[in-house]
Amino acid sequence: MEKIIINGGLPLNGDVYIDGMKNAALPIIAATLLCGDTCIIDNVPAVSDIAMLLDIIAGMGAKVEYLDKCRISINTANVKPGCSPFDLVCKIRGSAYIIGAEIGRFGTAHVGYPGGCDFGVRPLDLHLMGFEALGARITVESGYINAVSPMGLHGNSIYFRIPSVGATVNCILASVFAEGVTTIEGAAQEPHIVDMANFLNACGADITGAGTSSIKVRGVKSLKGCHHTIIPDMIEAGTYMAAAAITGGCVRVHNVIPKHMESVCSVLQRMGVKLDIGADTITVHGDGKLIATDVVTQPYPGFPTDMHPQISALMCVADGVSRMSELVWDNRFRYINEFQKMGTIISVADRTASFTGSQKLSGAPVVSTDLRAGAAMIILALRAHGTSQISKISLIERGYDNIVGKLASLGADIKKVDE
Ligand code: EPZ
Repeated sequence: MEKIIINGGLPLNGDVYIDGMKNAALPIIAATLLCGDTCIIDNVPAVSDIAMLLDIIAGMGAKVEYLDKCRISINTANVKPGCSPFDLVCKIRGSAYIIGAEIGRFGTAHVGYPGGCDFGVRPLDLHLMGFEALGARITVESGYINAVSPMGLHGNSIYFRIPSVGATVNCILASVFAEGVTTIEGAAQEPHIVDMANFLNACGADITGAGTSSIKVRGVKSLKGCHHTIIPDMIEAGTYMAAAAITGGCVRVHNVIPKHMESVCSVLQRMGVKLDIGADTITVHGDGKLIATDVVTQPYPGFPTDMHPQISALMCVADGVSRMSELVWDNRFRYINEFQKMGTIISVADRTASFTGSQKLSGAPVVSTDLRAGAAMIILALRAHGTSQISKISLIERGYDNIVGKLASLGADIKKVDE
């Protein structure tokens, strides 16, 4: 087991280059299962969730080749349904997309329940409701989700009471070959939905409306392979912007799509952070002084829940009282137990945490509770006086490639050591 050691109090300066978006690469890798051909995917982030999903589809018969660190060739001609490795599927949330892809391509599915970060309940009811609307019959037995569609899959209208990212992805995957037209109302609008739809359309699918709350999928007969480049990771970018803001210093964040960062930039600017926003670069001019503000997490284009812990770290040192309201997940506040070990002043009532800014934070040994919470602990430790140790860093490496190296190159006193 490894841990991260940080000596805080140093400003960050320099250039950081953002990788491809994990939460776009996962649905696109699952979508290759629909092609039965060879796809070349560029800008794939070298993170463990991606490696895990590639192992899962390889276990189903896909031929996966790393052409470079971030370029992958995937051929799914020989993929068989019902043989995704149960012991791997249960480790990541991205496995849920195997269900939609199997149903889409084969009309049947036999996939173990997916895993994912522990934010409380993570139901799949919207996914299953969508599959049934398309003509699949779902049963759950011995930890597996099974689907059959004896009458074939047919287009239908699907309405989501919550704009679920995963359910939107899965219903698109399951409906690509369905007879007729499928309409998904109340769809998630995240950029990663758009990226997956662009990938599938490049393979010959007929998807319109991605990025809006109303998506139409017209069934086609087959797909061919294509060459696609994954969009940059807006959450990784926001994470490094938050690190620059809390430590002070000037950091240029390269390979971003500013349009995807609007809500994050707006919050940072409200907190007094000066940003220069270019075509594909955002420069953060931090002076370490931050102003308290209130934030509410919402589905895109609202403020992303996956930036909640990182901005909470800034709230711990902002001048005044800030409030973070988490409206997407039931229980995303587990990181607070760890933040408090550094001397933060936080109270929680219902879905809102209140932070009283303090300049007396001290380094401490903390444990990462999930992917984004772990990144937030790094951010807080970069500001705190003294030494912090962050353990369970495998959770952080699920979504961040070389976070220690990237921060060290910006001047942080940070290293990874064996526990
Ligand atoms: C995706 O999770 C992301 N994961 C999460 O990012 C992210 O926090 C989340 O979207 C919201 O943006 C991946 O893309 C792999 P949802 P997902 O379905 O699809 C409820 C990270 O840090 N819901 O949009 O599981 C659910 O309980 C990860 O990279 C149902 O009620 O999220 C939640 O309250 C962490 N029934 C809300 O919808 C369902 O069938 C949003 O969930 C599905 C979801």
